[in-house]
Amino acid sequence: MKRKVICVVGTRPEAIKMAPVILALKKSADIDCRVLATAQHRHLLDQVLRVFEIEPDIDLDIMRPNQALITLTARLLLDLDDVLLAEKPDAVLAQGDTTTVMTVALACFYHKIPFGHIEAGLRTGDMANPFPEEMNRVVAGRLAKWHFAPTESSRQNLLKEGIDNRDIFVTGNTVIDALLSVAERTTELPFDLAPGLRTILVTAHRRENFGAPFENICRAILALVERNPDTQVVYPVHPNPNVKDVAYNILGNHPRIKLCDPLDYLPFVEMMKRSYLILSDSGGVQEEAPALGKPVLVLRHETERPEAVQEGVVRLVGPDFSEIVRQAQTLLDNEAAYRQMARGVSPYGDGHAAARIAGILREHFAVCD
Ligand code: UD1
Ligand code: UDP
Repeated sequence: MKRKVICVVGTRPEAIKMAPVILALKKSADIDCRVLATAQHRHLLDQVLRVFEIEPDIDLDIMRPNQALITLTARLLLDLDDVLLAEKPDAVLAQGDTTTVMTVALACFYHKIPFGHIEAGLRTGDMANPFPEEMNRVVAGRLAKWHFAPTESSRQNLLKEGIDNRDIFVTGNTVIDALLSVAERTTELPFDLAPGLRTILVTAHRRENFGAPFENICRAILALVERNPDTQVVYPVHPNPNVKDVAYNILGNHPRIKLCDPLDYLPFVEMMKRSYLILSDSGGVQEEAPALGKPVLVLRHETERPEAVQEGVVRLVGPDFSEIVRQAQTLLDNEAAYRQMARGVSPYGDGHAAARIAGILREHFAVCD
């Protein structure tokens, strides 16, 4: 019997990390894989779906400008209710820790539909950091039937919360599947990089950094580029207005700082490859950059991705002016320190996570038949 599995994508990173799973499930003759886009992100989501040639079967088009979390949550739950009633899937999969994922897990719970959580078990242990993502993933984890954990330490986090070991599968992170599927390609950038300069790539979007912390981050970037005439900054700015307005105000006028709209996934990977150093508060970038041998200074005080920090290729600097400048300056000045962080390791996966997830689902359905 053919089983219906709905794969949900809401934001850019979910689409990147779900794409390999969707493509793997679509190859399974015994599974009818349907793609549900909540479109919590609109442009950012569409960019990624185009790259992987994925066409949503259902699109909730939920994004509104600067939408409040409670409105987003309430609208998602109501729309998901309709979809689950109409579609009656045998299983639903979602990835990560966004509002989309938390509401999907909850809607599945109410409808008694088995929910599989991809990238399960990431924790900081602090509900305020990252906000609201720590709460989202704790809720999703409490409600999931299958926990697809990327690493052994994420499995341990789930065991500490009382999840049955038989429901946890360490698969690796599908972000590495996506990255390896494109990393060998050379892609044109939509702008020219000044030759002979070392490029610092920046991304930032975390809600807990809005306001003064994000202003500190921008001032530190400005200070770094002013102190180091052999550097340039490329910063694709997240469209969240709380980020965009501040970034353009503080950094918009420097000749060696290139602010631009978010890059498509392929040019962004190309940009990571061409960077000397990355400053980011992004989860996905913390996972991808080590695999490309690029040091990352994380603009947060804590991370739910401790593996690369333990490997010494990612370092936490917080949204702290002096620490960002000090640590980045060390990497610009000290070649040995730089080489230590640019070793190229991949603690998050081997590129086969999606095949493992598809295999586990197929096995489950085969046993049920
Ligand atoms: C969201 C997720 C965050 C994830 C991040 C990845 C939540 C609460 N937050 O944060 O966990 O790490 O995505 O990028 O789930 N916008 C656009 N166009 C887009 C996307 C966003 O204009 O394509 C603007 C809109 O004004 C939107 C706002 O950004 O209302 C905020 O979007 P939202 O999804 O709520 O939060 P993000 O900060 O993007
Ligand atoms: N990314 C992209 N274009 C950009 C910036 C990031 O394609 O301009 C990709 C990046 O390679 C990574 C993902 O988006 O896979 C990270 O998304 P984001 O930082 O928005 O979210 P997070 O990972 O923090 O949830």
